[in-house]
Amino acid sequence: MASAGTMDKITSLCKRRGFIFQSSEIYGGLASAWDYGPLGVELKNNIKSFWWKTMTQLNSNIVGLDASIMMHPRVWVASGHVENFTDPLVDCKKCKLRFRADMIDKKNMEEHKCPECGGELTDPRNFNLMFKTHIGPVEDEGSIVYLRPETAQGIYVNYKNVMQTSRQRIPFGIAQVGKAFRNEITTKNFIFRTCEFEQMEMQYFIHPQEDEKWFDHWMNQRFQYYIDLGIRKSKLRFHEHGPDELAHYAKKAFDIEYEFPFGWKEIEGIHNRTDFDLKQHTEYSGKDLKYLDEATKERFIPYIIETSAGLTRSVLVALSDAYDEEEVDGDTRTVLRFHPLIAPVTVGVFPLVKKDGLADLARDIEKSLREEFTTFYDQGGAIGRRYRRQDEVGTPFCLTIDYQSKEDDTVTLRLRDSMEQRRVNIADLTSRIKEEIRNYRRKD
Ligand code: GAP
Repeated sequence: MASAGTMDKITSLCKRRGFIFQSSEIYGGLASAWDYGPLGVELKNNIKSFWWKTMTQLNSNIVGLDASIMMHPRVWVASGHVENFTDPLVDCKKCKLRFRADMIDKKNMEEHKCPECGGELTDPRNFNLMFKTHIGPVEDEGSIVYLRPETAQGIYVNYKNVMQTSRQRIPFGIAQVGKAFRNEITTKNFIFRTCEFEQMEMQYFIHPQEDEKWFDHWMNQRFQYYIDLGIRKSKLRFHEHGPDELAHYAKKAFDIEYEFPFGWKEIEGIHNRTDFDLKQHTEYSGKDLKYLDEATKERFIPYIIETSAGLTRSVLVALSDAYDEEEVDGDTRTVLRFHPLIAPVTVGVFPLVKKDGLADLARDIEKSLREEFTTFYDQGGAIGRRYRRQDEVGTPFCLTIDYQSKEDDTVTLRLRDSMEQRRVNIADLTSRIKEEIRNYRRKD
């Protein structure tokens, strides 16, 4: 049911229900910077945990790292970012707007005509995407540091530290989640492309002769991950990079794309970075980054297969995929069909009425479930309206405590997607909800 207007509806729902707010809103906002509210931060954390578990807990040869955002400036010379991490930009001499030359209509480019006001455009010039700042008290050339534009380099410069301390042998991986910064021209599409964002990256260190095998392995694993996350398969596809699209470090690259309401776009890149990065860091640091295979005594610089997903972009995938509207009894029901594993709230708990001890019983039940699930207690308004409020934020399960609950220790379990209601023993609630989560399948 996606259309161009869907994005506006998602953006407005996110603000209204506390998922995502415009940054510095009371000052008029900062373009393309966003703050994650109470529900947004739960959703983002759940996606992050799901990724972390998939990559590290379920793979004994993948370990974690949390490297700093600011690194030695030579890192970015060695990595090629100082020289190559650029976008071709043009400025409008009249309205002063700046555009990416490769995103402007061909005719406008040929005529040097601004797509917004028709004014004259400058010739394209390359503009580095890294944010620069200074470290220490003196602001000179020697104190320049960059905010990392990808988390990957923190992994490469630590690869020997991590390998030795965790006693890994090739093949092994290092996983990291963290902020990255790019001074991009960001236009519309909500949180899709922002200057400050989060990445979930995994670098897999392998023997050079096994690059094809591991590339295919990680392509398949990463595609399946999105399905396990509850994203509809029909909305996912691969896109292979042609020679003109390949990043300066990549020999081969596939994107996983998602069909957003505004079209098919990249959500993750799988790259064969060869030995490019470790060779560069060997040369620029003067340190030997070769790997010694104890069995064969072979010494070589490992190849790296990288899986690079956007966390903040994944939040938009989850929201876009979950958003749905349907007619129910002559009304429009807005519902976010999140997989229960990533829903910001898992269980809503409501007393039918506040009186006669029902509110106390409901509160006790809600408290007893907190250890296992994220819960939300609501006693305000008609039950139907309380269900709809939870549908709109994607809560998969709601419990209603009524007069019968006092008599036979059962409550109503209501399922978000089908709106089905079932009677469940209070003592069985935890196991029953866990079972529902395990067996959850979204209907397309
Ligand atoms: N280390 C490789 C790398 O950074 P990339 O294709 O430039 O590769 C990987 O970025 C992922 O990071 C993208 O697929 C996207 O999900 C996310 N990403 C990149 N730039 C972004 C931006 N400006 N805003 C939000 N997410 C971004």
